[in-house]
Amino acid sequence: MTLTEKQKEKVDSLLKEMTLDEKIGQMNLESTSILGAFGIPLAEIRKMAKDGRLTREEIEEMMDNTDCDYHEDEVREGRLGAIIASDPRRANETQRIAVEESRLKIPLIFGYDVIHGMRTVYPIALAEAGSFDDELFEETARMAAKESRAYGVMWDFAPMIDVARDARWGRVSEGPGEDPYLASRFAERKIRGLQNDRSDTQNYVAACTKHYVAYGACEGGRDYNTTSMAVSQLYNVYLPPFRAAMAEGAASAMASFNDLNGVPCTANSYTLRDILKDELALGGFAVSDANGIKECIVHGYAEDSADAVIKSVNAGLDMDMGSHLYSKELKSAVESGAVSLSAIDDAVRRILSVKVWLGLFEHPYVPEEVIESYEKGLPAEHIALARKAAQESIVLLKNENSVLPLNRTQKICLVGSLAGNAEEIVGSWAMGWKKRDCVSVLDGFKNAGAKVQYFPCCGPEGEMNEDELSSALEYGDVIVAVVGETRDMSGEASSKADITLPGRQREMLERLLETGKPVVAVLMNGRPLALKWESEKIPAIVEAWQLGIQMGNAVADVLLGDVAPSGRLASSFPMVNGQCPVYYNHPNTGRPAGMSRFSSKYIDEETFILYPFGYGLSYTEFKYSDLCVDEKADQLEMSVMLKNIGSANGTEVAQLYIRDVAASLVRPVKELKGYKRITLKAGEEKKVSFSLKKQDMGFYDNNGKYVLEDGLFRIFVGGNSRDTLMQEITVEF
Ligand code: GLC
Repeated sequence: MTLTEKQKEKVDSLLKEMTLDEKIGQMNLESTSILGAFGIPLAEIRKMAKDGRLTREEIEEMMDNTDCDYHEDEVREGRLGAIIASDPRRANETQRIAVEESRLKIPLIFGYDVIHGMRTVYPIALAEAGSFDDELFEETARMAAKESRAYGVMWDFAPMIDVARDARWGRVSEGPGEDPYLASRFAERKIRGLQNDRSDTQNYVAACTKHYVAYGACEGGRDYNTTSMAVSQLYNVYLPPFRAAMAEGAASAMASFNDLNGVPCTANSYTLRDILKDELALGGFAVSDANGIKECIVHGYAEDSADAVIKSVNAGLDMDMGSHLYSKELKSAVESGAVSLSAIDDAVRRILSVKVWLGLFEHPYVPEEVIESYEKGLPAEHIALARKAAQESIVLLKNENSVLPLNRTQKICLVGSLAGNAEEIVGSWAMGWKKRDCVSVLDGFKNAGAKVQYFPCCGPEGEMNEDELSSALEYGDVIVAVVGETRDMSGEASSKADITLPGRQREMLERLLETGKPVVAVLMNGRPLALKWESEKIPAIVEAWQLGIQMGNAVADVLLGDVAPSGRLASSFPMVNGQCPVYYNHPNTGRPAGMSRFSSKYIDEETFILYPFGYGLSYTEFKYSDLCVDEKADQLEMSVMLKNIGSANGTEVAQLYIRDVAASLVRPVKELKGYKRITLKAGEEKKVSFSLKKQDMGFYDNNGKYVLEDGLFRIFVGGNSRDTLMQEITVEF
């Protein structure tokens, strides 16, 4: 995000005119309604009050501090600069107060969690990352930006780019998986899609990369839990996507809830100032996550509100999301000298820069005709893109005896309460969707003209309907069982100790298998699951994730063979809970798991990863041969022959990995360094080439310094992180 000289002058001239109160007002982000903390509608507040999720004291405090419901007075007095909202007409009304009634007429910025689509919800990030389709990452983000603006949002709290290796963590659903390289490509394309179409202010938004930083490394996969790691681990695993996003000019970043090596990321000057602002050159501002400043007290890092505010703002945290403490404490902190005016000016300059860059001073409102167009329906091209994204995110995990693809002459017995559900398909953090836009799996099969009878039977929660199951056992030639999780079982505050299929779904599968008919399990889930039993018993398994509003059509497209499955896993699947965390890019250890008891393994369970990163099947088969590696002056050039040796057309994701065999810090057994989606007709063979800059073969040491070390490397190419061809080469840098 860069400003023109004229824009910089505008920011500086505004800053000169602002009072301290007005400056602090810009550093304050509130939810839509004072009553509905973080935009929780009043009706939900009432429910929360009735079922005890809000204490009487909390309600009383809310009511005591509520003098109006949409912050009108704060906005009019310049005490509020940003609001979490997504109602375009409400946004226009509140914006009008800022732009016409406040003293300096500084527009508000409206932010929202548009993680995988605003109204046209597309696959959760963990699914979309598995498409390994960089252009798709960018196209869907561009669509999300346009729809955000149409709903009054010009600041998306996205992309979520936390590398995550522990499937027990519910937020693994929101991000691009376990690999730093894939996460970095995902991050850079999402920033381009969200920010780069500046042909019209209605086409781009400010991105807010989150959650900065290493939030996905929470101990035990327990959300909000502590994180600790070597500097080299931070730099090699968790920082890369943020580095990539900042290189693309990401406008903002959101500090994460976790403490990192003992310091909360909300008030961590090492990560916020030294790395994010100095080394990665964040052009805009850093915002806390919800209530993060106040939580510095709970962490045990600040003694009281004043201390939390002083530590946060001095660490480089520019905007307070929802704790109200900057409003409450910052002025006295400046007056006491604990916080310098220059620190305030730096924060406000960053915030104003983003507002100027967004064109808010010239175009502060959502045009009425844009609002009306979305009230009528979604653009056809958005629906089509959502369907394409869903198709490319589907991963075929198992297909014994080619049970799949199905055909339209077969009588399909569709079971599982998730199959008929048109809401669970949108996954976590879907905020602006409308049920009328959603296509359930059942709808999808009907739309495709398949012979299908539907029996809910059971789902992730609740009991089995024995009558429905008895009827299901009698019907059809093939059984398609949609099983998995509800959308609330992943996302924020959804860590699980047991990531096997919840409820009585496995029991249902057992009963279905007793029919002797082919059973296809279609997984609808927001995290890798522990699938040892299913992988042994179910002949066909399709990982369909939560694919957004077009899920039903995409699942039918793939299961009926109209579209070949081409998705791969962006996160590894364990066999059992106890294996977590599992990830492919692990160090070798001195005793890698092997035959000997005295090796790094479990004595009560297999140690291998059930389905590794990059894994996925097709309706055909691909063969790799003739891996060649050539060393050029500043890069390696690889080629491999890839042949479709099956009887159907298909798309393969060819993947390039390296291993630095011996280095000053032990390196992972494999590191992804490239990938390509290749579509081949049956029998077709193609040479696939990769190039790898030698500069990209290094790593960061424990001083955060990037090093290139001469020595032996292994180069791998294959269709996943486990099954690869390999060549060795000694490289001198
Ligand atoms: C939440 C989430 C964050 C989100 C923010 C605003 O607590 O951690 O991802 O952007 O609050 O909704």
